[in-house]
Amino acid sequence: MKLIAILGCSKNGNTTQIVQLFEKKLKEQIECEVEYLYLSDFDIGFCTGCHKCIFDDEKKCPHHVEVRKLEDKIMHSDGLILASPGYMFSVTGVMKNFLDHVAYNCHRPKYFYKNAFIIANCTRWQEKSVLTPMEVWLSGAGFTVNGKMYVDMLPFPLKEKILHKKRRLIEKKAHKFSSILKKDVDLQPRLGELMVFHAFKTLSKIAPNILKADVRYYESINAYEKSVKWYIPAKISLLKHYMANMMAHKMEKEISKMIDQDELHNVQDRYITRL
Ligand SMILES: Cc1cc2nc3c(=O)[nH]c(=O)nc-3n(C[C@H](O)[C@H](O)[C@H](O)COP(=O)(O)O)c2cc1C
Repeated sequence: MKLIAILGCSKNGNTTQIVQLFEKKLKEQIECEVEYLYLSDFDIGFCTGCHKCIFDDEKKCPHHVEVRKLEDKIMHSDGLILASPGYMFSVTGVMKNFLDHVAYNCHRPKYFYKNAFIIANCTRWQEKSVLTPMEVWLSGAGFTVNGKMYVDMLPFPLKEKILHKKRRLIEKKAHKFSSILKKDVDLQPRLGELMVFHAFKTLSKIAPNILKADVRYYESINAYEKSVKWYIPAKISLLKHYMANMMAHKMEKEISKMIDQDELHNVQDRYITRL
């Protein structure tokens, strides 16, 4: 089994220590290889906000060649570990910039049947704001998020008894994740994930001349047909399907009320609202 660890941190700091122990504990349970990719080694530039990846085609991103190196590694792996220290109550700048470059996947997810684990290295009370950007991207892009943890590794010497507790936590989480990795991924989208599917599909129907890449994607998976309930076949209860559909109808109505249809017909690309 091949796992990729994407690290948005300095090399050989505390976050690396956490990931390395997590890897060691995983390897006690399953046969796997973990490749470490430090985002600072990839010259992906800053996302300029051109929107080309979302609207037209990810290949039109000015940084596509370098971003693709990371995405190819992820695609050819069985699972992903995302790790970031907390910087200013969020992920680090390099991690956020990576997430911005791959955000288009939330419109057109492709990483199905891949497990993911998230690691935040930050102090207590901040864990949610560090974990959330990574978790939102992973589930939006199609991964099954099967675990997360935060470890508060302060950059100060810690007492052995405190370190012992942290080692135990990492070990427990690694054992749990390894037992999941042994099984096949069971795709059961949550209501929120179904709603995202319907929301982007609805948006692409409303503005097909702007969301061109999404239209191509939804057409390719026949998603405009009523019988298609999600991006790929998955276990979806009737109730969840019904609720997600209802929300999509409501959203379609609300957005349609806001949009100037005549103006929309003339738009071919990114639209800048003139106030
Ligand atoms: C610019 C910067 C901002 C930081 N902001 C936070 C923060 O908001 N919350 C926090 O818990 N730690 C913060 N830290 C501390 C780091 O998260 C901590 O030192 C961490 O262990 C660094 O990880 P590393 O050793 O893998 O580089 C910050 C550190 C830096 C350099």
